[in-house]
Amino acid sequence: MVETELDFATIQALIASNASKVEALIDSYVDKKEQLISLLQDIQAEFNYLPQDVLIRISQKLDIPLSQVFSVATFFKAFSLKPRGRHTVTICLGTACHVRGGQRLVDKMALSYGLKPGDTSQDERFTLETANCLGCCALGPVVVIDGKYESQVTPDKLDKILKKYE
Ligand code: FES
Repeated sequence: MVETELDFATIQALIASNASKVEALIDSYVDKKEQLISLLQDIQAEFNYLPQDVLIRISQKLDIPLSQVFSVATFFKAFSLKPRGRHTVTICLGTACHVRGGQRLVDKMALSYGLKPGDTSQDERFTLETANCLGCCALGPVVVIDGKYESQVTPDKLDKILKKYE
């Protein structure tokens, strides 16, 4: 079962439980509006994504147009407007990795975890992404998990590797 977004009540509870921390964080940037990217990084570190309610709050408290906040939040690939898993799995589908079986790894993620690229597992364990080339083609197919490169990955090897990540 796959869910790409937490339900509304869960998100509200998550934000409410961190409300004072979020407010204090935003307050610390009141005189540093030009450091919006840095604030968004801090928010993402707190929630693992950028909740829309928090972006609205940033706009209100820092008096920055909401369109500008969303523009920055959507421009950088490092930011996510959707809840993300505790671990990010990136499968390379560049030409070299593709011919060596990269697509079989994507198929394995669908089969074993019910995930397609862009999805986050319901238990928030994994977010699956794909890339066009990760710069180490000779090692393909390549998978990167939380920044750690795994080379010559087969579907069975991927299964074994992912078991180490809870
Ligand atoms: S094609 Fe996969 S690392 Fe280059």
